[in-house]
This record gives sequence, C-alpha cells and structure tokens, in this order.
Amino acid sequence: MNLRRVVPTTRSQLRLSIGNQGVHQWVCRSCRAKTPSQAHFSTSRRSLEKPYYVTTPIFYVNAAPHVGHLYTMVLSDILKRWQVLHGKQAILCTGTDEHGMKIQRAAAQAHTPPKEFCDLTAETFKSLAKRAGLSNDHFVRTTDPDHREAVQYFWQMLKEREYIYESKHEGWYCVSDETYYPESTIEKRLDPFTGRTFMASQETGKEVEWTSERNYHFRLSAFKDRLLDFYKSNPEFVVPAARMSDVVKWVSDGLEDLSVSRPVERLTWGIPVPDDESQTIYVWLDALVNYITKAGYPWAPGKESALGWPADVQVVGKDIVRFHCIYWPAFLLALDLEPPKQVLTHAHWTLNHQKMAKSTGNVVNPFFAIDRFGVDVMRYYLALEGGIINDSDYGNDFIVERYKKGLQGGLGNLVSRITRPKIWSVHEAVQSARGESAANFDQSTRMQVEMLETLGKSANAKMEELNPGAALHAIMNAVYEVSRQRTFPISSANKRKDK
Ligand code: ME8
Ligand code: MG
Repeated sequence: MNLRRVVPTTRSQLRLSIGNQGVHQWVCRSCRAKTPSQAHFSTSRRSLEKPYYVTTPIFYVNAAPHVGHLYTMVLSDILKRWQVLHGKQAILCTGTDEHGMKIQRAAAQAHTPPKEFCDLTAETFKSLAKRAGLSNDHFVRTTDPDHREAVQYFWQMLKEREYIYESKHEGWYCVSDETYYPESTIEKRLDPFTGRTFMASQETGKEVEWTSERNYHFRLSAFKDRLLDFYKSNPEFVVPAARMSDVVKWVSDGLEDLSVSRPVERLTWGIPVPDDESQTIYVWLDALVNYITKAGYPWAPGKESALGWPADVQVVGKDIVRFHCIYWPAFLLALDLEPPKQVLTHAHWTLNHQKMAKSTGNVVNPFFAIDRFGVDVMRYYLALEGGIINDSDYGNDFIVERYKKGLQGGLGNLVSRITRPKIWSVHEAVQSARGESAANFDQSTRMQVEMLETLGKSANAKMEELNPGAALHAIMNAVYEVSRQRTFPISSANKRKDK
C-alpha cells in the first residue's frame, strides 16, 4: 500500500501501510491486557469520566538518572496521588527518550549497539521509578513498537494536511540540547582545559555545529495566531504565570518553521520518515508523541479521552518549556487534537549552585541518596524544598535538618504523643470533643481547631495551583503549630489520669 495515495485511518491500516518495519502484531486496545490502574475501568459511573492524566518528561538515556530527575518524578507522582485521594481515577505516565544524535553518539562512544545501550539505561530509570515509589501506570520507551506506530501515524497526518514540506536547512545544531539555535544566540567559547575554541549556545553553553542539509520542515510559523488565541483562552496553560508570559512573548516575537527530520547519513538512530527512508524523524517530534502513545493514539472516533487525553498536567523542567508549550500544542492543533490542559514547569536542583546535569557530571545519584536517607525522607525533602520558580541548592545537611525538624521532631513526635496509650487516648479525645461545646475551648485551642478546619481547603488550593511544595508547607505548619502546644486541642479532660 502506498502512503501517498491511501492515508491510513486506523492503526491496523497504518501497520499494513508502513510494512515490515518492526511493527508488532496489532491488537485492538480494548482487547489488550489492561494495566492495573486501567483494570479499574468498569461500568460504574466513575469509570465513564476521563481519567486524570499526569505525565513526567521522558528522560534521555545518555547517562544515569540524577536527583533532578527524581524531583520531576516525585512532583508528578504527588499530583497523581492527590487525585486518587480525592477518589478519582488517575493515570501517571513516565518513560525514556531513546532516539536522536545525542543517544547515537553516546552509544558509539560506549562501543555498544544503540538498542543495547538504551536497554541498560532505560532499566535504570525504571528501577528509579520503582525505588522512588512512583505510582506510574505506564513506562513508555520511544523504541517501543506502539510508540513507533503512533509517531509514524502522527507524521503521516501532518503531511496529509500539508503542514510538512521539504527544503534545504542551514543552521547551528546543538546535539546536547537536540535543537537548532538562531545565529543571534550563538557565541564563541574557549574550553579552559584544552584551549580549544568552539561555537556554543549562549543560553546553555553547549557546543553547536553548523549543518546544511535537505530535510523536512513543519509550518510552525503558520501557528502564531492560533497559539496566541489558545494562550489567551487558557491563561493558566503554563504554570507558573511568569513562564506563561515568556511563552506568549516568544510566540508574539515570531516563529520560524521547524526542521523535523535529519538525513539518514547523519542520524540513523530514530524512527524513519514514512515513505522516505533517506530521512529520520527529529527526536523532539518523536519524543513529544509519547504522551499520546500511552493514551492510545491513534484513537478510534469517540475514544480520545478513554485513556486520559488531553493530559490534565504535564510536568517538565524549565529548560524544555519551548518544546512543550509552543511546539507540542502547535503539532496537536495542526491535527485538531486538544493540547494538554496545563504544563507545570519547575525550576532546577543545583549542586554548589551549578545546575545538576548529566552532561557536566555535577550530579547526585538518587539511588545512593535513597539508600542513605530512605525513600520517604527523600520524597519529603524534594517536595518541600524543590523549586517551581527558583532553583534550590541540594545538600545532605539540609536533608538531615529537614528530616529532624519536620518528620522526627514534628510529625513523628506528634504521632507518638497522640498514639502512646499511657499519655493519650484518641478514643476518649474524640468522645470528649463531641461532648464539649466549642464555647468551652480556651483561645489557643479555638485557634488550633480553626486552623485545622481550614487546612484541607488551603492545602487543596495549593494543589490546584499545582504547587505541592506549598501544600506541604501548609500541612507542616499545622503540625508545628499543634506540636508546639503542650496539650492538644480537645481539652485536658481526656488526658489519662493514671499516667
Ligand atoms: O530534556 N533539576 O530529557 P533530560 C531538576 N528527553 N530537573 C532537572 C534537572 C535538575 N538539575 N536536570 C534535568 C529531556 N531536569 C528530554 C525530554 S519530554 C518529551 C523529552 C529535568 O533527561 C529536565 O528539566 O535531559 C527535564 O524536565 C527532565 O529532567 C528530563 O531531562
Ligand atoms: Mg536535559
């Protein structure tokens, strides 16, 4: 079947049309075995609702994970768990980004075939998700056959709608950031260790190389007005607000068409362009589609939302805002698909005030940190101190200090005071509170009761603003406030007389 003549409208047609390119036997999604969370889908009313869908970015497999990756995972996991606590069906998707020049080079340097190379690191990210107690329902790998199908189908649809065209492309490409940078953002730099000069991106300091080649382009420039309208109607699309303003400004300043493929002589490690084996699909187009792969794309009519799309929140670091908040909605709008509802962009963890990054080796191994401090302590610390707007500096001393103050002295002490039967009886306290009229409470007790009564609301409001750290601060303040009192809110009447 020739893709130029017949545009597939279902996955099975697509499989036939792409032929024998490693696509697995297609089975209708509803007939496939369900993952545990999907298995909850039944005939109940709750199951008819679109599940709340949260995604993490997918991680490059060029090196092992660090604490920054763990942070992104933990934030996303909290957002999912919060919905589950509210009794909602929720899905969390994480995974690995395995194609592109960056991985091709890393595999070559390791003298390992790329797939073998990816298998190893993907496994490490999978183990991290497990060690960190992530409640992910999916772990997507961009080398998975269902993802490859979804990407080729997505490409074909863009081509069919004439959003993709072929032309010559020249520019500065950065392999480390997997993106072209405009000439005006490039500068000459000197490597102090080798004395070598090289051209680099001003923004990231990463080396760029001049490339001149024929490839495919996406008509991004045609989306300026549609994107601006979309942002206007969805002013909270990007969180926090300051980054929403940056995005609006970038788009208002104008968009250039985007190169979306590389010649196969340069890039073999990727998904081939359907119908043109001389080109490989650009890694970012490939990677972004992961979010809909696991939501079942391409969808049968009427089934778009069954597995969660549009995502309720996509969590990403501040370095990849442009890709998620401009390119991704533009690709989706091109196909009349709904963009995600919100993108939560967070700040970075630094070590000695330098960004933690695989490429510089300035990193903390999250497995060692979890071994040393325990998974709950690490999750607590990252959630409490991790930045959304501003970066946070990581330090073992801070972890110990926050642990002692918050979990040991604060929550631990409070729970112990409440549950030690010789000092306190929860049962009697509840009985007593029921019987006692609020008018008999002393002032400090009244204040505590009020604070506890509003705590749920205020923590929920912070979570709705997609700020788990602020919600946790509100909860911990309540813990400190209650612990500070020698007696508990109810009254001293229920203190055990026999103590
Ligand atoms: O960007 N602190 O992958 P990646 C906090 N494959 N977060 C950090 C961080 C730090 N020091 N360093 C990195 C990619 N991150 C692409 C994503 S999504 C379709 C493709 C975050 O492995 C970073 O901001 O370089 C990003 O959100 C994530 O880790 C993965 O980074
Ligand atoms: Mg990165």
